[in-house]
Amino acid sequence: MPSPAPAMIDLTDVSRRYGSVAAVDRVSLTVARGSFVALVGASGSGKSTLLRMINRLETPDTGRVTIDGEDAGARPAPEWRRRIGYVFQQHGLFPHMTVAANIAIGLRIAGRQVGDRVGELLDLVDLPRELAGRMPDALSGGQRQRVAIARALATEPPILLLDEALGALDPVTRDALAGRLGELHARLGLTTLLVTHDMAEALLTADRILVMDQGRIVADATPAELVAGQGGAVAQALMAVPRHQAERLAALAR
Ligand SMILES: Nc1ncnc2c1ncn2[C@@H]1O[C@H](COP(=O)(O)OP(=O)(O)OP(=O)(O)O)[C@@H](O)[C@H]1O
Ligand SMILES: [Mg+2]
Repeated sequence: MPSPAPAMIDLTDVSRRYGSVAAVDRVSLTVARGSFVALVGASGSGKSTLLRMINRLETPDTGRVTIDGEDAGARPAPEWRRRIGYVFQQHGLFPHMTVAANIAIGLRIAGRQVGDRVGELLDLVDLPRELAGRMPDALSGGQRQRVAIARALATEPPILLLDEALGALDPVTRDALAGRLGELHARLGLTTLLVTHDMAEALLTADRILVMDQGRIVADATPAELVAGQGGAVAQALMAVPRHQAERLAALAR
């Protein structure tokens, strides 16, 4: 019998403190290849710190982070990050570079051919190719986030980390882009970890939801389990908002 494929991302007993604050507190977590995991929790619960340790923007005080069974310390950080596309809330595009140059930067750093890739990547995120020559400040917020996603996917990383990547967008754009992300995740066979404040977004895009509270993962459940009332008190407190909205909408429709 073939041995099971190693977990794409694995954290064992990982902690990170800032002074007296345990930002991440003894977290163990396995993210299976191809899964779409949402990480939710109150502000300050440690979500970004967790993501940053996977991408080696932070180093754990204790514990171990691996990708495909390989230890985070095994390679120089830039090489480690080549397997990871990372998008955060403030798109982080270089303001003095065109859309095309922004999208191509990872390819250039990796010494890879740019060729038609910029056009293909714009297609991938549903942006017109005409935008290639624009500067970031001549784009809408939603267009900038799409460019940031295209840039993150340019080198075809198997892992996509999104930290509040949709947080600054209007609800309609946000909904459309969340849907697109789900499609891209499936089509490109990505392993995706999405940090969001929005439980409804997590329920509708992810196949597994982790709830963080004070540096710990306090729930690990499917959307169906959370909707069925499982996952514990912290998870259910976060469920109150989408539940209340759904009830009010249903009442309006009556
Ligand atoms: N560089 C830092 N220096 C000091 N404290 C930090 C630093 N980064 C994070 N923290 C603290 O660690 C805790 C976790 O922060 P983190 O940014 O991971 O939370 P978060 O869940 O992403 O919050 P948010 O939803 O507001 O983005 C917080 O108490 C925060 O103040
Ligand atoms: Mg954060």
